[in-house]
Amino acid sequence: MRKVTLKDLANSFGDDYNKFSKKFIDKFNSVNLNYEFIQDEDLEKLYIKIIDRLFSDNQKIGAFERTKVWEKGWGENLNDFLSEPNNENTLIPKFIRPGLPIRFFQKFIRTENPMFELEYFKLYRQWLFEKYLKDYNHIYEFGCGTGFNLLEGCRMYEDKRFYGSDFVSSSVKLVNEISKKFNLKLESELFDFVKPNYQYKIKENSLVSTFGALEQIKSKFIPFIDFLRKKRPDIIIHTEPVKELYHLDNFNDYTAYLFHTKRGYTEGLLPYLQELEKKDEIEILKVKRLFFGSLMMEGFNLIVWRFR
Ligand SMILES: C[S@@+](CC[C@H](N)C(=O)[O-])C[C@H]1O[C@@H](n2cnc3c(N)ncnc32)[C@H](O)[C@@H]1O
Repeated sequence: MRKVTLKDLANSFGDDYNKFSKKFIDKFNSVNLNYEFIQDEDLEKLYIKIIDRLFSDNQKIGAFERTKVWEKGWGENLNDFLSEPNNENTLIPKFIRPGLPIRFFQKFIRTENPMFELEYFKLYRQWLFEKYLKDYNHIYEFGCGTGFNLLEGCRMYEDKRFYGSDFVSSSVKLVNEISKKFNLKLESELFDFVKPNYQYKIKENSLVSTFGALEQIKSKFIPFIDFLRKKRPDIIIHTEPVKELYHLDNFNDYTAYLFHTKRGYTEGLLPYLQELEKKDEIEILKVKRLFFGSLMMEGFNLIVWRFR
């Protein structure tokens, strides 16, 4: 068995492992990130499974019926949370599937811990929040789902104020219930990326984040960027799948690229931001593919930018 090392995480996040905090290292030491490479016949079988999925999957991102799917999905988490408010597992989004092969630095791995994807993501989020949230008073997450990122942010920074939003009311209710239950400086309201509400306030000294949410709007991100242009948060951090970062001469990447394309996840965001940077309107502070993902694609690439 191999084990993900601090050096691997530093390579994945694009940081120096000597800079990891004690808290981060303690968290790292408390989780099982053992794995082995999937090889030979097992890899052949996995490729067949992936190709079958590429043909059979018929989910269409951003389609009309997807609104109901999100409303219902977060409604189930809301009911689970209301009936078991002390069980925070009710806030784990159901799209994180335990026990499946993981994409790691362009290879497939089999992990000892069925919750590997979640645990790896949590380490990334710990690093991300330590690095980027500390300088801002007002933290926003758009398309926040169950609010489990916001809850973690509130716990890490008790003095800051947190604002969630989503385009379905079950998410908004759930996040407001979490705030009430844990007595947090957290509130949530409805907000649709595609039809931004310009009455929505972004306060001074603020950070805006998205996690796997702009992916859902079928490339219609311009209204949201226009909204940000008007509101001028101090910094924007996205953790999203980015089609343009796959290497198309790598077979594993190519399968992820095809899946991203077939489902119709957002594309073009990074090139659009790069155009804005060329026009001197924004500054891109970081673009980092984590080289980490799930069976069919990689959902984790960090883009950090700000208006000039
Ligand atoms: C994959 S989930 C990610 C949720 C959360 N950010 C997380 O990391 O767990 C995608 C989220 O985007 C939201 N979403 C989809 N379309 C949206 C839109 N047009 N405006 C705002 N949110 C949207 C969904 O309701 C869902 O909460």
